[in-house]
Amino acid sequence: MEMKPFQLANNTPLSLSPNFILPVNKRPNLLKVLPSASIPIIDLNDHDIDDGQGPSPLVSKISQACEEYGLFHIINHGVPKELCQKTLSVVREQYLTKDHTKQVKVFNYYQKVQKYEGIEKVKMWSETFSHPWHHTEDFTHLLPTNPPQYRYLSWLIYKLFTFELDIRGLGLENDCLKRRIGERPRLNCQANYYPPCPDPELTIGLPEHNDLGSIAVLLQVEGVTGLQVIKDRKWLPVDPVPNAFVINLADQIQVLSNGKFQSVRHRAVTNKLLPRLSLGMFYNPNYDTVIGPIEDLIDEEHPPKYRKYSFKEYMEEFYRQEGKRRVIEAFELAP
Ligand code: OGA
Ligand code: NI
Repeated sequence: MEMKPFQLANNTPLSLSPNFILPVNKRPNLLKVLPSASIPIIDLNDHDIDDGQGPSPLVSKISQACEEYGLFHIINHGVPKELCQKTLSVVREQYLTKDHTKQVKVFNYYQKVQKYEGIEKVKMWSETFSHPWHHTEDFTHLLPTNPPQYRYLSWLIYKLFTFELDIRGLGLENDCLKRRIGERPRLNCQANYYPPCPDPELTIGLPEHNDLGSIAVLLQVEGVTGLQVIKDRKWLPVDPVPNAFVINLADQIQVLSNGKFQSVRHRAVTNKLLPRLSLGMFYNPNYDTVIGPIEDLIDEEHPPKYRKYSFKEYMEEFYRQEGKRRVIEAFELAP
């Protein structure tokens, strides 16, 4: 049977037309990406090995991963494998049937780049939909109604965020994240679909970026690579690990930790053969939450590296920048 070409939500067939092709200096340069990398894998079952003396080995491992990479896999997280697989297959169906309710908008992102004729918008080789998600509010009216299993996600996300609060201070202080990010975090869920691309060197699924909130939990389909991160100025692949979630530190954690933990720079590239699917769950502060380096981390030797601001200010700065530079730089204090 011949496959129908994939169509974007606005019915544009997906083909390597000029408006998808990046200028040479923005291309992913895949030959320069290391073939594999040892991204930390944190086994949450290691919780048991706690001798009560100082930070537990689990917390130390997480802290080290946060300092060195800003990203790690977690395994034995307690979310059943079947649920993760079912959720991904339901999301896949959403894309392939394009049967969305009015509330769920599918986006095809673009990146503004300099081309011969001036600034142009280049389309990303992907589609995305997102919606708010908070287990204490009734948001079910925002979700796709078809297929009905999509609502299984609710359980998955509930589990993830109770887990997320459980990683707590990432080695700082119990409950630190929960208190700093505020009582009313903004939770958002984003599903990304990356169809196969005839020439992955010419396009990108998601351009390089830092997530703006505090933490993202990413579920990716097994057996298809695409996510990459920068470490020591080199791009490394974050290949899927069976039954794992990827934990991604975002900008607010870098500020709260006064630069100790890294907000990870990452991107998603395409591949020739297989469609790739990922589901990101983002844990962000409320707009009125004030963010700044945690006082306990500040002393004469460690002056604050960032000024205080509200998360609303941060987002306004993001929209002002239009991707021209890293948002966090606008909040840095002179050394
Ligand atoms: C994101 C993101 C990576 C991926 O949605 O912000 O970085 O692998 N996704 O889809
Ligand atoms: Ni991201």
